[in-house]
Amino acid sequence: QWIYLNGEYVTKENAKVSVYDHGFLYGDGIFEGIRVYNGNIFKCKEHLDRLYDSAKSIMLDVPLAPAEMERALVETIRKNELRDGYIRLVVSRGPGDLGLDPRRSPKAWVIIIVEQLAIYPEEAYRDGLRSVSVSQRRNIPDALNPKIKSLNYLNNILVKIQANLAGVGEAIMLNSQGYVAEGSSDNIFIVKRGVVFTPPCYCGALEGITRGAIMELCAKLGYTLKEEPFTLHDVYVADEVFFTGTAAEVIAVREVDGRIIGSGKAGPVTTHLLQEFRKIVE
Ligand code: PDD
Repeated sequence: QWIYLNGEYVTKENAKVSVYDHGFLYGDGIFEGIRVYNGNIFKCKEHLDRLYDSAKSIMLDVPLAPAEMERALVETIRKNELRDGYIRLVVSRGPGDLGLDPRRSPKAWVIIIVEQLAIYPEEAYRDGLRSVSVSQRRNIPDALNPKIKSLNYLNNILVKIQANLAGVGEAIMLNSQGYVAEGSSDNIFIVKRGVVFTPPCYCGALEGITRGAIMELCAKLGYTLKEEPFTLHDVYVADEVFFTGTAAEVIAVREVDGRIIGSGKAGPVTTHLLQEFRKIVE
């Protein structure tokens, strides 16, 4: 396995980051999780747009132009002979000193890791996941803007810990006003009377690339899609609930906080969207 590290290809054992790296010391950096299907990078432009927007927002100079970054991704996939898998692209502020001043980190580090993906078993896509809501709140734009895909994932990790403690696959995070935001690493959708809803990003959702692809699919397949705030009550009484994400793709939720959702397995709209999504990527 070859890992891209600042323009060089190194083995997994030799892929090392300094203890002074500000991504490590402070979570100062950004990342993308990207899928490769049949040797092609899925939604490459969308991921790179989001990456460079995140970089601009935190005043991080990415040492590669977008076209060079795309070439680095393609070359890393080629070197690893990857047909289907997952890319983790990380841009860290780079090594500095112990202070948090980013001016002390003169050069950002670019790391590209590609891997086979351990996703949910196929039956989870038919039966749906169990989920719970958690007490952690998603920051809305008065704090770190959720549109920035930063290396600060501690809040999301606390959500994942709550999910683990509850023995469920993914949890649901609300924002400080009590509206549903997203999962620990997935966007959320609900379906009610044939209408598909997802929270707007100002509710605290990452502008997910899979979310965008599903919104496009809804338009194409003739489902009404509404981007509007909703509460846990709306989730409990929804006909269908599903999560979307690069790793998870489109996965149904069969139970939330002990309430059975719809028929208690993947519903017709979720199943249809998953089928059509797979047609696009396969
Ligand atoms: N997740 N929300 C959060 C907080 C996320 O970290 C992610 C990505 C998503 C889904 O976004 P997208 O469809 O662009 O992946 C939503 C991880 C890193 C992943 O699934 O790869």
